[in-house]
Amino acid sequence: MIRKGIILAGGMGTRMSPLTKAVNKQLLPIYDKPLIFYPLSILMLCNIKDILIIVNKGQLSQYKKILPNGKNLGIKLTYIEQDKPRGLPDAFLLGEKFINNKNVALILGDNFFYGQNLTKNLSTNTRLKNGARVLLHRVFKPELFGVAKLNNNNKIIKIVEKPKNFISNFAITGLYFFDKNVVNYSKKLKYSKRGELEIVDLLNIYKKKNLLSADFIGRGGAWLDTGTMDDYYKTISFVSAIENRQGLKIACLEEIAFNKKWIKKKHIYDAIKFYGNCDYSKYLKKII
Ligand code: DAU
Repeated sequence: MIRKGIILAGGMGTRMSPLTKAVNKQLLPIYDKPLIFYPLSILMLCNIKDILIIVNKGQLSQYKKILPNGKNLGIKLTYIEQDKPRGLPDAFLLGEKFINNKNVALILGDNFFYGQNLTKNLSTNTRLKNGARVLLHRVFKPELFGVAKLNNNNKIIKIVEKPKNFISNFAITGLYFFDKNVVNYSKKLKYSKRGELEIVDLLNIYKKKNLLSADFIGRGGAWLDTGTMDDYYKTISFVSAIENRQGLKIACLEEIAFNKKWIKKKHIYDAIKFYGNCDYSKYLKKII
């Protein structure tokens, strides 16, 4: 059972500059809450309560204002600063102590997941014992992502980062599940031509050992990444449409924690006080 998770919430957000010059991308709003709430909610829905958030050097105080230490959510949040974007597997080098020889999930701070049965599917993946597991989703423009080619038995036979030539429509989403060997394998990686440690190189190590498996977010599920301005605004529209239609919030952290009985009514009242007079607080009032 995976009990630990890492959110990679650094990066320069270059594609969204000048918005990201003063504020980190993961703190920008997706409709009514900061982007980081969404990947954090996914780890919480996976029943992961011990979470490391990796942020850019110099931006820690911004994050701690909104997500101090997790006590208010019945979880434990630890922070580490990354001095420059060295690539996704750097999470496992920086996080070695936190991981402490246990299996671990990684979610990218700018990834958004939503859909029926998602929580159930995720819980299945946290049962991973050995190897690595990725979540795949069909996309129209695979050249923008890490991509996996599958054989007839849905086994991954090839993975390529942002392939120039078409190999498959299945993008590798930014939620990964790894066994405890991930730290040692990450140590073996070499920097790529673009000067980063590459997640596909790490996944290829598992693939070569026949230890890489895949799960799918079907067409009833949504996976959006907020990397470009256009995708960012599409994600905002999506959240606004669903929340206003249903009257339910996506990624309300206190609601998730309360439903899981990780926090009590008192914590919700504290949260209402903390957020002040806003729609989010009004929603919190309704859930108790
Ligand atoms: O969104 C899924 C895609 O994410 C995968 O399909 C790709 O295989 C994977 O490489 C990644 O591609 P991106 O081009 O979207 O990665 P990006 O460099 O934008 O980083 C994703 C997030 O991780 C972003 O919120 C910033 C953060 N990050 C990234 C790097 C490289 C860090 O915090 N530190 C880093 O060193």
